[in-house]
Amino acid sequence: MNNDTVTIIDNNTGKQLVCPIKRGTHGHPVIDCQDLPKTLGMFTFDPAFMTTASCESAITYIDGDEGILLYRGYPIEELAVKSSYLEVCYLLLYGELPTCQQMDDFTLAVKKYTLVHEGLLHFYRGFRHDAHPMAMLVGVIGAMSGYYPDALDIKNPEHRNRSALRLMAKMSTVAANCHRYLIGRPFAHPRNDLGYVENFMNMMFSIPSEPYQLNETANRALELILILHADHEQNASTSTVRLAGSSQAHPFSCIAAGIATLWGPAHGGANEAVIRMLQDIEDPKNVYNYIKRFKDKDSSVRLMGFGHRVYKNYDPRAKIIRESCHQLLHELNAEHLPLFEIALELERIALEDEYFIERKLYPNVDFYSGIILSALGIPLNMFTAIFALSRTVGWVSQWSEMMEEPNLRIARPRQLYIGAAQRKFVPMEKR
Ligand code: SDX
Repeated sequence: MNNDTVTIIDNNTGKQLVCPIKRGTHGHPVIDCQDLPKTLGMFTFDPAFMTTASCESAITYIDGDEGILLYRGYPIEELAVKSSYLEVCYLLLYGELPTCQQMDDFTLAVKKYTLVHEGLLHFYRGFRHDAHPMAMLVGVIGAMSGYYPDALDIKNPEHRNRSALRLMAKMSTVAANCHRYLIGRPFAHPRNDLGYVENFMNMMFSIPSEPYQLNETANRALELILILHADHEQNASTSTVRLAGSSQAHPFSCIAAGIATLWGPAHGGANEAVIRMLQDIEDPKNVYNYIKRFKDKDSSVRLMGFGHRVYKNYDPRAKIIRESCHQLLHELNAEHLPLFEIALELERIALEDEYFIERKLYPNVDFYSGIILSALGIPLNMFTAIFALSRTVGWVSQWSEMMEEPNLRIARPRQLYIGAAQRKFVPMEKR
């Protein structure tokens, strides 16, 4: 018998299923149990997909125990220091680091798509003056499915690439416009003379009546945040994009579904929730008593920015961003930003607390990203929109990878039915 197998035995019937083990480049091997229903008449049971590999992917690899994160094989620590966000986008999308010529062509292609159809700008006016930017992002990006009929053939690689570039480029314009709409400022058009991050900051903060002063320190800090959040294996929002894409839905609709999923405070909404938590604590002296709330079994309150489904030692992104946070606040002479002092005290106490130690709860990327975004003057309600901006390249790369599968099938999980046994209908007069 081939040793690279696992045998599942039904002890009730003695029936056996020999399952092949599939091994990847790095990480846990997987048990291919697709024949389970046919052979043993059973499904696997894995709520929240804690132990399920939903696909084969060559894009990102995470080792949660060793704190490793690779984009197409390159460690995040190297890309964070040596790469630009657009270069990381090229790497995630096409699998290799670009040559100079490839980078120039890619940069031009993205710039070409940053403008959005004027008709889309009318969508913003349908939102309340205080709508959350993520609600607007879901709506406007979803509406884009009605604007690009020239790239509807998702089986056509050129159409898929065009949609991927459009989404990465237009997300920055659409996200910035959410902020402009909420503060009552006219939309700023993208400028092709600026880099990706500078262009976004210009669209966010420029004032029509005066030239916008680019801040190199701020742009560098935001570039780092975009690089660190670009992709992360089959997280909740990426899995949503894949699920939507498996029905062969329009790519803009799939990304809108990913944005909606990212908004949750257990996922991308955590960076905003961290700041609200730090504001609620108000003073480092209150941290010790505040932490008690997060350990109460009956309380659903979680220490936002702590814990991770995969990282059970530390989130390598949090380590990088923590150092960048110190450096940025020093450069902005904001080291004594109260939020930062509270965050440092919260981290210190939590990491010494048995509850967090035994559950392997460490700061994740969202614990510090919010402090950097605050220091950059990004409004709190835009934090998750920035995460969505960064993650768009991850979503479209994973979507493209799935659409290239030769025998793409619609994803359709099964269930364990625990409802009423089959029964006859009872007329109302007899109930
Ligand atoms: C992101 O998946 C990704 O890759 C996501 C992401 C990405 O880049 O796409 O990395 C981005 O979403 C980061 C996570 C941001 N979320 C938060 O910071 C919210 C706070 N964190 C928790 O909600 C939680 O840690 C999760 C959602 C992140 C992970 O949840 P799990 O894996 O389901 O953890 P769990 O519920 O199995 O926790 C195990 C134990 C439980 O206690 P016991 O039942 O064992 O007594 O740890 C406790 C939990 O109650 N716990 C926490 C906690 N996180 C877990 N207790 C207090 N505070 C927390 N933050």
